[in-house]
Amino acid sequence: SKLSNGHGNPRDFVAKMKEGKKRLIIFYGSQTGTAEEYAIRIAKEAKTKFGLTSLVCDPEEYDFENLDQVPEDSCVVFVMATYGEGEPTDNAVQLMQNLTDSSFEFSNGEHKLEGLKYVVFALGNKTYEHYNAIGRQVDTELTKMGAVRIGNVGEGDDDKSMEEDYLEWKDSMWVAFAEAMNVEEGQGGDTPDFAVTELESHPPEKVYLGELSARALTKTKGIHDAKNPYASPVKVARELFQLGGERNCVHVELDIEGSGITYQHGDHVGVWPLNPDVETDRLLCALGLYEKKDTVINVDSLDPALAKVPFPVPSTYVSVLRHYVDISAVVGRQILGALAKFAPSPTAEAFLRNLNSNKEEYAAVVTNGCLKLGEVLQLAAGNDISARPTPQNTAAWTIPFDIVISSIPRLQPRYYSISSSPKLNATSIHVTAVVLKYESIANQLITPRLVYGIGSNFLLNIKHAANGESQELEHVSLPVYAIEGPRGTHKVEDLYKIPVHVRRSTFRLPTNPRTPVIMVGPGTGVAPFRGFVQERVALARRTLEKNGSDALADWGQISLFYGCRKSTEDFLYKDEWPQYADELKGKFTMHCAFSREPPYKPDGSKVYVQDLIWDDRKNIADAILNGKGYVYICGDAKSMSKAVEEVLARILGEAKGGSEAEGVAEIKLMKERSRLMLDVWS
Ligand code: 2AM
Repeated sequence: SKLSNGHGNPRDFVAKMKEGKKRLIIFYGSQTGTAEEYAIRIAKEAKTKFGLTSLVCDPEEYDFENLDQVPEDSCVVFVMATYGEGEPTDNAVQLMQNLTDSSFEFSNGEHKLEGLKYVVFALGNKTYEHYNAIGRQVDTELTKMGAVRIGNVGEGDDDKSMEEDYLEWKDSMWVAFAEAMNVEEGQGGDTPDFAVTELESHPPEKVYLGELSARALTKTKGIHDAKNPYASPVKVARELFQLGGERNCVHVELDIEGSGITYQHGDHVGVWPLNPDVETDRLLCALGLYEKKDTVINVDSLDPALAKVPFPVPSTYVSVLRHYVDISAVVGRQILGALAKFAPSPTAEAFLRNLNSNKEEYAAVVTNGCLKLGEVLQLAAGNDISARPTPQNTAAWTIPFDIVISSIPRLQPRYYSISSSPKLNATSIHVTAVVLKYESIANQLITPRLVYGIGSNFLLNIKHAANGESQELEHVSLPVYAIEGPRGTHKVEDLYKIPVHVRRSTFRLPTNPRTPVIMVGPGTGVAPFRGFVQERVALARRTLEKNGSDALADWGQISLFYGCRKSTEDFLYKDEWPQYADELKGKFTMHCAFSREPPYKPDGSKVYVQDLIWDDRKNIADAILNGKGYVYICGDAKSMSKAVEEVLARILGEAKGGSEAEGVAEIKLMKERSRLMLDVWS
């Protein structure tokens, strides 16, 4: 056929499999890159265990009509994340439609996949209601169509135990795989994915020093998205808490003028952070690369179908560790096993092997201690992890750099709910980020230390820098890298650019302003609601101008339930709300729960947003049941949003003269009709 020469339809994965003699095709439904990483790991393991090569594919790039044509000696692996309220990731929407729509015909003219061998690993978060819905659905649909699963459906919980869940699942899956595919272990080998070459001389303007897309240096035009973030200048960066710095919440305004980026209230912005210098240095020292950190390197993929080079090249050792790979995360158990053989001493090797094989020990030392890769390498070699790392106080391991690239995941953007409306701020995106800082749990090797979230501390440090504040934070780095323009010609403004992109959401106000709106957002959960209220303020201004001072009379009430510790400490945007209320002519009401100041409840316990919702139950039931109102919840997924849903169920059940179960059913219906929406995180 015309496809067999390999120059046929690029969306035909079966032709590609045959041409490349691949016996696995691995599709990943990935939003933030985690599912893609696991897809690559599965491909690597198939290669090292059985010598089988895989095609790792973004489902968006292929058509599924010939899924029934996958050769009998091959299998299909689905690594599927579940997103939001049980939805597929953006890149898996088409795939899911094709699998679930019984009128969709494969090339056999039927909606049947008789005998197709498949593997499923599902990724999700147990905090959310629809845990792993997409992975489970892939399994149900395939089974229904006559396909045959290999092993169990793997289920990973991003909230707690993704890595452990994967490790626990994969061994029995590979046993089943060997049998189904009729292959034996030990036929593979430890072949590298990448070749790293040091370049003697290279034009400096062609070296990537933190740019996230090849387009940044080649200057090819294109839209700004997750694959091509925009380097946004910081217009404003200020502190929102009135606490003198012991806890922080930063407000950042990102300038998007002229970028072509547009956004809507309720969207998310992805902010691309960088690793702190201290961590970059630590790993450079542990890899014996500190003296050569600025050496220009090229990276080639030895099997592009299996692993693409995950960042633009050529680059330098220090840039790769600082900008492109996630060296700040708690290091995974499996990597430690892979790196043990490169240890500088038998003791260090034994240390890693023990952590790799002893789950309890790993949890106690690494997970509880929040240890990063560099820190574990130092600990293993008996180095002092609290000292500023230098080549003198850090033992050098012989880990080849290609292994670093293939075993450490890419550094991913951090997503924030946008806290502005484009109707009031067309050329800027506002971010409201509480700065994450907590103490690790003590263990036999290390005393508790402070652990810093890299996204929010990155923003905090930009705030310090942008305002010329004293800069004492060792755990965070400034973005002092060049994003645009020829090297060495940067102006000060260039230094405070943050790579960003917008991710669309469905978290939106109803279009009709007569519809009542109830918003629940304690803490930084208030972020999108500042955008919502601004959106309505913009509409109010236009409406009042056009139709006179009574024009908002038939508008529905917009109620915001907000909570923080104290009205004098962490009340976000305290000065803005009265102005918004004024402009909205009494249509905006704010209910505040200050949990750590009086009045407390009669029994002395704290007042939270759910208590204020209960107090206002008459209005709330009326808005929802009679006014067809919309409810939005944003913030903590673990306890707050659950408690709010519970109280709403109780209110609705009672108002309908029935039980709480009736309220629960009403809540379910509201969710299905997108009249109750969540933007929650854990
Ligand atoms: P607390 O820290 O005093 O317990 C923003 O973080 C606000 O949300 C704080 O006032 C915090 O109170 C409150 N909060 C904490 N847990 C909550 C829960 N389960 N439900 C609602 N609000 C909560």
